[in-house]
Amino acid sequence: MNKNSFGLNLFFILLICSGLYSCKEDSVAFPQIATIQSDSSLLGVYEVAINRKVPWEICWGPDGKIWMTEQEGGVSRLDPSTGKIQSVLKVPDVWFKRTAGLLGMDLFKESDGTIYAFLNYTHQKDTIVTSKLVRYRLERDSLVEPFLVLQIPGNHSHNGSRLKVSEDGIIYWATGDAHRYGNAQDSTSLNGKILRINREGSIPDDNPIAGSPVWAWGFRNMQGLTEGASGKWYASEHGEATDDEINLLQPLGNYGWPEIEGYTDSAKEMDPAFANRISPIKTWTPTIAPAGLVWYNKDRIPEWKNSLLLVSLKAQSLRVLKLDKSGEKITDEIVLLEGVYGRIRSITVSPEGDIFMATSNRDWNPGPGFPKATDDRVLKISPAKESKGEILKPGKAGLVHSKDGAGIYNQYCASCHKPNGSGVTGSFPSLVQNELVLNNSDSLVKLVLQGKNQMPSFSFMKDEELAMVLSYIRTAWSNEAGVITPAAIQKKRTNN
Ligand code: HEC
Repeated sequence: MNKNSFGLNLFFILLICSGLYSCKEDSVAFPQIATIQSDSSLLGVYEVAINRKVPWEICWGPDGKIWMTEQEGGVSRLDPSTGKIQSVLKVPDVWFKRTAGLLGMDLFKESDGTIYAFLNYTHQKDTIVTSKLVRYRLERDSLVEPFLVLQIPGNHSHNGSRLKVSEDGIIYWATGDAHRYGNAQDSTSLNGKILRINREGSIPDDNPIAGSPVWAWGFRNMQGLTEGASGKWYASEHGEATDDEINLLQPLGNYGWPEIEGYTDSAKEMDPAFANRISPIKTWTPTIAPAGLVWYNKDRIPEWKNSLLLVSLKAQSLRVLKLDKSGEKITDEIVLLEGVYGRIRSITVSPEGDIFMATSNRDWNPGPGFPKATDDRVLKISPAKESKGEILKPGKAGLVHSKDGAGIYNQYCASCHKPNGSGVTGSFPSLVQNELVLNNSDSLVKLVLQGKNQMPSFSFMKDEELAMVLSYIRTAWSNEAGVITPAAIQKKRTNN
């Protein structure tokens, strides 16, 4: 460089730094949209990104950025200090529909500095749906060189699928049962399992079943996975009509699906044939649709140290599940943000202890009043200097069984058939002016007792409860049919 051009360059550098532009991309102050008054911390809720479409996974990358998958197939990274989003990949062979698409992701930095992203997505060829685990390498600002690590059967629903690479570089992959009842208990099927595999697809020598990636089994549809203290792993899982779960995972553990839902507490479940199943450490009935799960062990929000942070779809909340010292028991549950930001699917924690979450209000099943104009959003929770926006008070988990038809409907049926009975076109039938609801009480009772396809059985409810909820759907939303009595339910139960 000659002297003149050096002077010129210096001139431009000074010009750029003169205030019109800034030399370093300064971090921006994200808008504080609400405040949480926790035990000892004042926490702000900050809007970090808006206008996303179903961020399925957000996770903290080794490059200090938040990595994000969106269900239709995009991978991007979000600068947590500026909010800038850079697209790094559009996965070419994603099959996207309802709950299928580009799902879980995690990253790993090799000792030579190479960063790999591991992606899980559904794929369709002819009519066959599979679930792929593919590794990509980060080169400057793009993901390149797809390498297939593992491909397993998939389906239209129940694909899982969180994945995490452990500190020591082993992939843990939480797969769904692909909506086939036999899979979870079949130790040769890779569905309904926690799989443990090396980064290039081989099977670790110390796996519990030699030559098999199966590490634990008996799962239905896990939607959250995290590593806690000293190699403890936890998963969140969707129950069918009851019993959402948190499980503490053990090698060779059998978690009971489909014979056992939640705790082993019914006569059927206590059958000695189903002994040696591991019980969850927490269940929810009515269900909350638990999703992203992360172990929080930072000093930044001291009262949440050693907790599992769980976000949920149906219950639209963030839950702080406090662990005891052993990490084997949940001792308290605090419910935050309930209903405020809609469905929340994914959560990650920065090395400093800030919490980032992504909403899922543009997915196939938004709650009433959602999506909002700026959905989907990435929100941050971190200590705040002052109160701003709505003050959100932490609540206690108080889900109690409703005592009337409308309440039971909202807790058990509305997530599919919608609060106004309208259903979801192509997925869940409308119950408004529905022939089966209005005309034939016998087939109606039979359907809710037995279930059918994606409609779960509600035979676990008491006769009075079923009578209340069925009477409700027969008289709500301009439906005009007679009530159904507990005796009618009882009769149908004994006849079957
Ligand atoms: C997980 C989603 C889901 C939940 C929860 C659910 N349903 Fe359904 N329901 C379905 C699906 C799917 C069908 C269609 C089943 C089929 O015919 O294949 C259905 C069908 C029905 C039908 C028959 C409608 C028709 O046109 O065939 C009635 C009535 C009904 N559900 C009532 C209820 C009630 C009452 C509850 C709560 C106690 C409930 N459902 C909870 C998914 C659900």
